[in-house]
Amino acid sequence: MSEKYYITTPIYYPSGKWHLGTCYTTVICDAIARFKRMQGKDVFYLTGTDEHGQKIEKVAAEHNTPTKEYIDKVVTDLKNLWELLDISYDKFIRTTDDYHEKAVQKIFTKLYEQGDIYKSSYEGLYCTPCESYWTEAQLVDGKCPDCGRPVEIMKEESYFFRLSKYQDRLIKLLEENTEFLQPATRQKEMINNFLKPGLQDLCVSRTSFQWGVQVPFDPKHVVYVWIDALTNYITALGYGSENDELFKKYWPADLHMIGKEIVRFHSIIWPAILMALDLPLPKKVYGHGWLMLGSDKISKSKGNIIDPFILSERYSLDAVRYYLLREIPFGQDGMYSNKAFLSRINSDLVNDLGNLVSRTTAMVEQYFGGVIPAPQTATEFDSSLIEVATSTYAKISENVDNLLIPEAIENIWAIIRRANKYIDETCPWILAKDEQKRGELATVIYNLCECIRFSNVFLQAFLTECPSKIFEKLGITDKNLMNLKSIKKFGTLTPGLKVTKGEALFKRIDIEKELKELEKIAESTAKQAKAEKKEEKKVEENVLNISEITIEDFAKVVLKVGKVTACEKVKKADKLLKLTVDLGEEKARTIVSGIAKWYTPEQMIGKSIVVVSNLKPAKLRGILSEGMILCASDDEGNLSIVAPITNIKAGSEVR
Ligand code: MSP
Repeated sequence: MSEKYYITTPIYYPSGKWHLGTCYTTVICDAIARFKRMQGKDVFYLTGTDEHGQKIEKVAAEHNTPTKEYIDKVVTDLKNLWELLDISYDKFIRTTDDYHEKAVQKIFTKLYEQGDIYKSSYEGLYCTPCESYWTEAQLVDGKCPDCGRPVEIMKEESYFFRLSKYQDRLIKLLEENTEFLQPATRQKEMINNFLKPGLQDLCVSRTSFQWGVQVPFDPKHVVYVWIDALTNYITALGYGSENDELFKKYWPADLHMIGKEIVRFHSIIWPAILMALDLPLPKKVYGHGWLMLGSDKISKSKGNIIDPFILSERYSLDAVRYYLLREIPFGQDGMYSNKAFLSRINSDLVNDLGNLVSRTTAMVEQYFGGVIPAPQTATEFDSSLIEVATSTYAKISENVDNLLIPEAIENIWAIIRRANKYIDETCPWILAKDEQKRGELATVIYNLCECIRFSNVFLQAFLTECPSKIFEKLGITDKNLMNLKSIKKFGTLTPGLKVTKGEALFKRIDIEKELKELEKIAESTAKQAKAEKKEEKKVEENVLNISEITIEDFAKVVLKVGKVTACEKVKKADKLLKLTVDLGEEKARTIVSGIAKWYTPEQMIGKSIVVVSNLKPAKLRGILSEGMILCASDDEGNLSIVAPITNIKAGSEVR
């Protein structure tokens, strides 16, 4: 039976537009998964989306779309991106999947019943975008240490996970098992900044919103989104469901690949949960660096998106994959620039790889009628060439195991560069002029084809379009010449295969010209983004251009006078008030309205207002709003509620 290998990316927030930075983790994991599959491992590669939490509920509300509907669309976009990038995941988990939600509830209940989760109340400094509580000491310049945004004081009755109970075991884990968290600098950071100062119990439920997994025995609470998210790594395998065969087969994970900003969750909270569940710990958590633009992380919130769709359409998917895998020293931050990207294409893909393939195939066509010759007479340069080719597998394998991906690629390029040098050393065009040297020429051409095959076998783990093109050019259709077994011995390539030079693998780029083009694209994307933002604002403010309507259309809207009997602010929503309104009906209605900037709850209580009474109810911040209050607003930002000028009974119709 083949050895299993379970690799995961973080599950992504369905927050909207995707960028090159988003692709970094998945492309790296994809290359590792492909390489391990080539090695005969039984690989399970998991990715997915992290769909709960207040932040997502809010984004969907801003798009005036029901939360799940909004997420479904974004998840489709993300899956399209992974398809574009040829990400070979085995499973895509969504935390709104039914089986996951049920498993999270089971896990929460189990931890509660065994005393690892308990109920208490909590007041602390909270960062909404990161959905995290912080202590005063953890803040950086008074702001969230993860994202740098302001925090606010929050108080709520909550469930707590006894994280503190696991402190000693966690310190021991990080200090003694140096394989568990890498790079090593991250271990020190976790031990010194979080573990040694002392762990506090973790608040693991929320009542301020409802878009989450309900705590089964206390439905006012939803499970803290990170508990929900982290457990995806086991629920995706069926843990907590009726069929946990995959879990038994693949757990523990061999590698959780994550960005450096979420190391704390994966190396402290996640192992503690697993300890509480009495489950084995993942073998390795790797916190990689960020892809940066200037001094900023590439991210949607920074507005510095580099669009992978545009780059792969213009320069090929393999160029994008190659850049992500090759350019950034793994574990550290890497700087993106259009110039570095385009230069990589020209130097590595066009000059090194493309040239080797086009020169070699051209020589097979020119000197041997397009048929790979059998090697005949050795040349003095063969042995060092063969040595480079045959020593490569061990090096790549070690580098991939150590997650040194750019180095693994560099190992392949060592063969490619050595082969190009071999052409210069042996000068086949001179050998071709001398009939006596025909045997040497055959050897040189054969060796070059074999070197290309060697590098291409390895390339299959990293690039996904060009390896099949290269095999096709060499006339290789036999799968036995494409696998890792076939590169054990130099000389396995069958002479007699029909070679075709065909088109160049990669087109040479006029860097100056392309830089200007990319600049133009960036400008127009920025303009478009600005226009979209404006449009969104317009929709938000309801400044719609409404065409004429008939009296029948108007009659569809039932407007009634309502009396406000109670009013309060909506927690953590600066713009919203929650009103209780008497509409002369049996039961007063709850209406949520965005008027908090202009009216205090005290001003509203007792007021007569006009309400659209037959508006379909909608949830706003988890509160069901059963109507809409009419207001007038002007361009200067003033707002006034519309009210009858004399006293009139609640429930009177406005016509
Ligand atoms: N939902 C959480 C993860 C939960 S895992 C149980 C999350 N999601 S995310 O969408 O914000 O980020 C997903 C991954 O993308 C993270 O590993 C993050 O580091 C990575 N990247 C996002 N922008 C990036 C760059 N600019 N550069 C490199 N990776 C970056 O965190």
